Amino acid sequence: MNDLAGKHIVLGLSGGIACYKAAELCRALIKEGATVQVVMTEAAEQFITPVTMQALSGRPVYGSQWDSREPNNMPHINLSREADAILIAPCSADFMAKLLHGRADDLLSLMCLARPIDRVALLLAPAMNREMWAHPATQRNMAQLADDGATILGVGSGYQACGETGDGRMLEPPELLEDIVALFQPKVLAGKQVLVTAGPTFEAIDPVRGITNLSSGKMGFAIARAAREAGATVTLVAGPVSLPTPRGISRIDVKSAQQMHDAVLPLAAVADVFVATAAVADWRPLNATDQKIKKDGSGKTPTLAFAENPDILATVAQSERARAGALFCVGFAAESHDLLANAQAKRVRKGVPLLVGNIGPATFGAEDNVLLLVDAQGTQDLPRASKVSLARQLVAQIARRAGA
Ligand code: CTP
Repeated sequence: MNDLAGKHIVLGLSGGIACYKAAELCRALIKEGATVQVVMTEAAEQFITPVTMQALSGRPVYGSQWDSREPNNMPHINLSREADAILIAPCSADFMAKLLHGRADDLLSLMCLARPIDRVALLLAPAMNREMWAHPATQRNMAQLADDGATILGVGSGYQACGETGDGRMLEPPELLEDIVALFQPKVLAGKQVLVTAGPTFEAIDPVRGITNLSSGKMGFAIARAAREAGATVTLVAGPVSLPTPRGISRIDVKSAQQMHDAVLPLAAVADVFVATAAVADWRPLNATDQKIKKDGSGKTPTLAFAENPDILATVAQSERARAGALFCVGFAAESHDLLANAQAKRVRKGVPLLVGNIGPATFGAEDNVLLLVDAQGTQDLPRASKVSLARQLVAQIARRAGA
């Protein structure tokens, strides 16, 4: 994908050991289609050379406000006017303090001050020792910077170069990339609460065995990501999958359909949109045993009896809020055949305004998919594309229908 095609990012480095991560970040931005202009403070040049950053970005690095390569000798104006966004990574405690006061005694801080504030976003990726991070001065500065219109991207936690462990590590390049990509997505679900179910469920037979299905959870995770990119607050209730949590999403892991049901119901009571992508098992073994079922050597096979699981989507779609239009419900149909007829029938049976059909066996685990949208007005195809791209299209459709 080229999620940053046509975007020009100014990547600013202030002084900190995390400068080594800025090299990888620069590559990642370019791989995603962006052009990158690197600007470094004198302190940053102590940690990584402009040669490295020039080679990776394919452009000479700027460091001084007296750079005579600019015909008008105003790199702070020229660089900030060209940018679609300015990302400071790493952003040191000292650089934050400088920004806070509107100081402008080097090119990077001067350029941040000179940026057209309504048009060019300023994103800060802090990086520092845990004590520096926790210090009231840093926390105060960050709150004020956010108030002044900067976006603080947060920090990671863990082992630090100084040997201590705690908060203050710079986010990893893939996390920063996800945040930059999100910045440019239209905010069609701003302020909305979105609840998504994803993945399979696992219904235990005994402590070591169970029944599940082939859903990978990728489509549901992509929808959660796209909804967050669109400005929503997103909760993802996930069955057993091995996928990383998309940025900025709160995730609840469950195993069985009953657990998913119990997690979803209270969340649905406050959500604006519910997207049920999970491939919920229809039945569970009636009496799961506490101990492993053993072969007795006779060749006799066990007989399983089943109970039907609660239908999470149908339950939520019948709630008062959903029927009053306060909660917009979207169902998925994973079919193996007769997609159109099955999807239309399922939409009516589940009582949802929008149902998304797909051929399960053709897409489970894959990176791409084809979707069929079915509502009361008719049908619409979303042709083959990556799951993230389809998720963004679906989010736009949901926003339109949910009146966001
Ligand atoms: N669903 C649910 N709870 C269940 C079963 C399904 O919330 N117990 C939701 C799924 O998340 C999906 C939609 O209902 O959004 C349709 O799921 P699907 O498995 O395709 O349909 P079923 O209702 O199970 O119907 P069938 O198995 O007959 O196709």
